[in-house]
Amino acid sequence: ARQDEVPATALQSADSLGLIRRMRRNRKAEWSRRLVRENVLTTNDLIWPIFLVDSSQARTPVVWMPGVDRLNIEEAVRQSVEAAKLGIPAIAPFPNVEKSLRDATASEALNTRNLMCRAVRAIKQEVPELGIICDAALDPYTSHGHDGVMAGETVLNDASVRILTEQALALADAGADVIAPSDMMDGRVGAIRAGLDAAGFDQVQIMSYAAKYASAYYGPFRDAIGTNATLIGDKRTYQMDPANSDEAIAEVALDLEEGADMVMIKPGLPYLDVIARVKDHFRVPTFAYQVSGEYAMIQAAALNGWLDGDKAMLESLIAFKRAGADGVLTYFAPRVAEKLKAIG
Ligand code: PBG
Repeated sequence: ARQDEVPATALQSADSLGLIRRMRRNRKAEWSRRLVRENVLTTNDLIWPIFLVDSSQARTPVVWMPGVDRLNIEEAVRQSVEAAKLGIPAIAPFPNVEKSLRDATASEALNTRNLMCRAVRAIKQEVPELGIICDAALDPYTSHGHDGVMAGETVLNDASVRILTEQALALADAGADVIAPSDMMDGRVGAIRAGLDAAGFDQVQIMSYAAKYASAYYGPFRDAIGTNATLIGDKRTYQMDPANSDEAIAEVALDLEEGADMVMIKPGLPYLDVIARVKDHFRVPTFAYQVSGEYAMIQAAALNGWLDGDKAMLESLIAFKRAGADGVLTYFAPRVAEKLKAIG
């Protein structure tokens, strides 16, 4: 018997609109929804940002990011082992540097025995198969909390790029697989590429924070790395204006010309349009950073019982895939990976 000959209820047939196309038909059962699904989130899409601190305690909670802790080096190694076991391809460590080590020129950033370099060495030794993506930016190391060095009120571009290049070399030497410049100085991708190549690190990749906006959503991150206390003013002379998206295309074009292997858009959910435009335009590996404030919003609402945290987490992440992202930096990474493993 044909499907439409199955007797319908009196109510259904009486009210039938005689539609030819019914979009709901493909949604009628789970097997069918699975079959027509356009995008999938997998563990391969995840990059896990972690916070490091020099401490005798394994973990110290980040108050503004419930569920996220700063890790000492031993704990960071343990967590990296777990992340690799879960199948997470890469981590992105960020340091909370002791106040006394921060100065005007970010000299600690160039110390090859600094927290980041020691952590990267320790993690690489224990889990060499796990990718390590290291931020190039000076804000964890400067007394004023800016991503570059300053003269008066001005964040200097070219002088900052010289220091960032040295920082990148220290990180590459420690074993960083990828350098991720998050500073938004002009010309830093080209300078870092040249510096890496000249030092024999031609296999070290660059994931540029190509379109990074001056965003309120970084607040909890600044709590995590201790720059809320240090930051003087704001970052609008180097990070992008949230009103712009043509400018994002220009930023990405420059970073690609200068040698970026992968590009990133940041923040994530409020900038899905930018992710989609960049992916459509350049067709290169494109990543999204679901930043600290996005994490905090979902967690805060979930902890209040105002939304289903797991569902909101997964929905936020599939949105990045739908927009065209190849992967996402997310503080949810281990939780998502566990969840995806459980679903199978
Ligand atoms: C610093 C940096 C920031 C983030 C990553 N690298 C903050 C900032 O620019 O002030 C934010 C990440 C997040 O909010 O999760 N260069």
